[in-house]
Amino acid sequence: MPTTEITAAAPAPATVQPERIPDPCIVVIFGASGDLTKRKLLPALFHLEQSGLLPKNFAVVGVARRPLEKTFAQDMKEGIISGGDVDPNDPKLDEFVSRIHYHAMNFDDSAGYDSLKETLAELDKKYGTMGNRLFYLATAPEYFSDIIKYLGDHCMARPRDCGDGKNWVRIIIEKPFGHDLESAKALNDEVNKVFDENQIFRIDHYLGKETVQNILVFRFANGIFENVWNRNYIDHVEITAAENIGIEGRGPFYETAGALRDVVQNHVMELLSFVAMEPPVSFQADAVRAEKVKVWKAIQPIHPADTVRGQYGPGIVEGKPVVGYRQEDRVHPRSQTETYAALRLEIENWRWAGVPFYIRAGKRLGKRVTEITIQFKLPPLLLFKDAQGKGGEGIRPNVLSMRIQPDEGISLQFGAKVPGPTMTISKVKMDFSYAQAFGKSSANGYERLLLDAMLGDATLFAHRDGVEATWALMTPILHAWANDPIRDLPNYAAGTWGPATADALMKSDGRKWRKL
Ligand code: BG6
Repeated sequence: MPTTEITAAAPAPATVQPERIPDPCIVVIFGASGDLTKRKLLPALFHLEQSGLLPKNFAVVGVARRPLEKTFAQDMKEGIISGGDVDPNDPKLDEFVSRIHYHAMNFDDSAGYDSLKETLAELDKKYGTMGNRLFYLATAPEYFSDIIKYLGDHCMARPRDCGDGKNWVRIIIEKPFGHDLESAKALNDEVNKVFDENQIFRIDHYLGKETVQNILVFRFANGIFENVWNRNYIDHVEITAAENIGIEGRGPFYETAGALRDVVQNHVMELLSFVAMEPPVSFQADAVRAEKVKVWKAIQPIHPADTVRGQYGPGIVEGKPVVGYRQEDRVHPRSQTETYAALRLEIENWRWAGVPFYIRAGKRLGKRVTEITIQFKLPPLLLFKDAQGKGGEGIRPNVLSMRIQPDEGISLQFGAKVPGPTMTISKVKMDFSYAQAFGKSSANGYERLLLDAMLGDATLFAHRDGVEATWALMTPILHAWANDPIRDLPNYAAGTWGPATADALMKSDGRKWRKL
């Protein structure tokens, strides 16, 4: 399809918030021996250091069960180099690594918290970190409750009760936040007993992605889109979160999760809220989060007939044969866990009533692509009733595609007259590419979110109400699925685009998933 590129104009960007450096602090990562710490968190912290955005008085403490004191910092250094694409000779690297410490303890052993508290107090003296703490729960979710409770019992949580009243303590809680509505509420109760809501940062790394934040800029900082962003002009919305990877050795976790819990309840619902929300009155955390919750609460209960689940069987991905889900390590040979989920839902409010939102997410699909497409209604075509669409495809509606990843960008498809004596109309594209306009960015979502948490800005984190609102939508689906096992799993081959039932869901509305 012919494409017109849009490049960014060079003048200085309009900045909403000036860059700020957080207060001195220690980042304490529970579950530090896991992949997330090495591949994402430490590289993200080092990128902040490279950009001069970390305070001078700063340290990291990894906490986990195994005795890794001797190797942890070196191991993290390797993670920073490979996961963060960092030059091993970077002049800041060794000094940064010298501030990485390790504390071995069992998360359910009260004595371990006494010694952790002492260690942190010593590091405060050494680094001048003033009692400020950012705890990060990156453990398996079953440890969240214990850690939260023991931090409370050991007076490590609320500065007004335990500190000098001038220090701050915050806690980042990784997803999955709960397993269903009931467990999410229980976890919220537990954490709210020990921490005030403004100390709690429920993380969803999608919100740290530039392309996700840009949805709000695109919609609300431009005059031309908001007027057509509603049921009068939009036919339907599709959100795809496709991955070509499998479960990457995470069998035990994925068996208890599945695509709906792992990706739809959080990442996809966040994307949906940004597409559908009303403009907030400001970018303050409460204002943004309130608008998001309104969207989720306006979604009608999703009927099981509007849902599809799938599980991948063996297949070919990127030219190589791969095993099916049931053959993956530590997966039950008759597992019912879904590796693919698709939903049709409606938001019953003035802006969106009658506009279907189609969602699909899955592992081992045709390629890695997260994209939101807004398909507009066709205009009255009387004027062009005799015109032909190129290749017999008919005149196509306008489609706005927001490419969240990879190949980040936005494109708008519209019809144009093909030069020549006949009235033939072809679809063409205007395309904005982040890489072309702004250069390549190495930021993974974690950089922005860790920085915000250190600054105390919760705008891009989930609030209690939001987490419960999305679980309230997903939980009845999970129950319906649990009561109705599927007999023909696996129902899609790895490397394809999911089960035939997902196509049928669209077809029943006279539509087709967009080819990505
Ligand atoms: C995580 C899920 O939250 O998001 C993973 O647990 C998934 O299963 C990942 O692969 C996708 O993140 P990204 O940033 O690669 O799209």
